[in-house]
Amino acid sequence: MTTTVITHIGSLVTNDPAVGEGLLGLVEDAALVLDGDRVAWAGPAAQAPAADRRVDAGGRAVLPGFVDSHSHLVFAGDRTAEFDARMSGQPYRAGGIRTTVAATRAATDAELSANVARYLREALRQGTTTFETKSGYGLTVEDEARALRIAAEHTDEVTYLGAHIVSPDFADDPAAYVDLVTGAMLDACAPHARWVDVFCEKGAFDGDQARAILTAGKAKGLLPRIHANQLSYGPGVQLAVELDAASADHCTHLTDADVDALASGNTVATLLPGAEFSTRAQWPDARRLLDAGVTVALSTDCNPGSSFTSSVPFCIALAVRDMGMTPDEAVWSATAGGAAALRRTDVGRLSAGARADLAFLDAPSPVHLAYRPGVPLVSEVWRAGVRVA
Ligand code: NIG
Ligand code: FE
Repeated sequence: MTTTVITHIGSLVTNDPAVGEGLLGLVEDAALVLDGDRVAWAGPAAQAPAADRRVDAGGRAVLPGFVDSHSHLVFAGDRTAEFDARMSGQPYRAGGIRTTVAATRAATDAELSANVARYLREALRQGTTTFETKSGYGLTVEDEARALRIAAEHTDEVTYLGAHIVSPDFADDPAAYVDLVTGAMLDACAPHARWVDVFCEKGAFDGDQARAILTAGKAKGLLPRIHANQLSYGPGVQLAVELDAASADHCTHLTDADVDALASGNTVATLLPGAEFSTRAQWPDARRLLDAGVTVALSTDCNPGSSFTSSVPFCIALAVRDMGMTPDEAVWSATAGGAAALRRTDVGRLSAGARADLAFLDAPSPVHLAYRPGVPLVSEVWRAGVRVA
């Protein structure tokens, strides 16, 4: 295997406290040695071991590629008119999902796959090297299974979200839709997915339905995660902890008991500030969660309705400006935090054994991601040791 040393790194985020300083395991004037698709060594440039090939980072900062643990990329159409109306004062409603369901059902497999590829290229250019994506805009057995098959062409982190909303075909009988989601639809979808998710919210699924759906998914070998406490207070977060879900996503409306539950369990709180930005909603309080000792992840929620951004740097800037996170905390949450939300240890860090997923910044430090919002700072991206953007 060819080894590569990347030297002259202005500051290197390792997320490994054994290698560098502070939360980010930061090393100034650093080097990285890659062996094939893995990191073999990380540390001060002056101590770097020899390698077959040498790359000069030119003083740029290098961090682990972002781990975007929450997106909805298998869809067709967009919802420009709905966004436009919201910005004139209309509220966001979960029911807008139906518009995308109709467009997605009408699209061909090739159109859907091309869409996923397009948004992934966008994300990759902005530094994302691991991403999760969901079904949830099909809501029939065939349309959900095909969404997952298409998602699996692009990533290993695939989530079955047949329980996004009650299918319009079952408007008069939501219980029958829950039976489908936990029965024939689950049977068709489980082979293509790693995760099971449910939108636990007024107008979508209540706590008992969500428990039934996640429990049925677990029985089929899927791991639970959940859309919880996004638009209102509710049972989602505590259910997530009870079922040992990897992540409770959104966490915008939390009681003290919700925060305590997250602090006592293994469930990551994934915050999705693109959704609050795009729905003009109250920000989730990251500071409150961090001060309670909760593990926090930051992700895009990229979807055509509530958060049509593929940019993790944008989410980092929002989290720092409006959610009480320090720049270091936000960078950690978008890398190591995302990895924790996917229960992965091979990504989200840059130390020996990690996958060689790198984002180079045209900046001397990762703080610039928040300090220079809206500026395309990611100048080079490597995945598994190969330069891909
Ligand atoms: O995470 N909350 C549920 N699902 C998406 C919204 C999907 C949509 O509006 O199309 C979300 O925000
Ligand atoms: Fe979502």
